[in-house]
Amino acid sequence: MKDDIKEVLFTEEQIAEIVKKIGTEISRDYYGKNPLIISVLKGSFIFMADLVRQITIPCSVDFMSISSYGKGMKTSGEVKINKDLDSKIEGRDVIVVEDILDSGLTLSYILDMFRARGPKSIALCALLDKPERRKIPVKTDYSGFTIPDEFVVGYGLDYAEKYRNLPYIGVLKPEVYSGK
Ligand code: IMP
Ligand code: MG
Repeated sequence: MKDDIKEVLFTEEQIAEIVKKIGTEISRDYYGKNPLIISVLKGSFIFMADLVRQITIPCSVDFMSISSYGKGMKTSGEVKINKDLDSKIEGRDVIVVEDILDSGLTLSYILDMFRARGPKSIALCALLDKPERRKIPVKTDYSGFTIPDEFVVGYGLDYAEKYRNLPYIGVLKPEVYSGK
């Protein structure tokens, strides 16, 4: 796997530091509340697991599984729900956790769907943000790193379902996805 990585963007230590910072912010902002933290699978599963352990107030978790990318790299804009939430979000303070905000198509779809279910509040937390690629304006309430327009993998992020288990975030060598 390592040979397919052009450059490490964020080490395990850098990720741990930013995740702790976001967890502290959420704990402060939601003090006295009991937020429902929703992970959008699969990309955010590792971030979610680390993030909730840095949150010091009571919270619940839920998971939604969608696919928007297939095996490729371009978003289709079409989102398929593979698994919906178990919990009702009506009246809840919801925090949606995503791995990366790219075109914004997936997240704007999810946020619209959640808003229609009547939560008390809804906030968005994304570990990575690629603002250059945005097609629909989406604003994050909590975000980790802003990155350039390069395809990254690791720490939950995949290319064709591979590399999710890399403990760091790196840029994939272009020859890996161009098939050269
Ligand atoms: P959006 O709808 O374009 O914002 O796509 C968001 C989804 O695309 C993310 O949840 C990821 O699954 C995937 N994605 C976007 N950029 C990358 C990347 O650089 N590496 C891996 N997955 C990505
Ligand atoms: Mg994803």
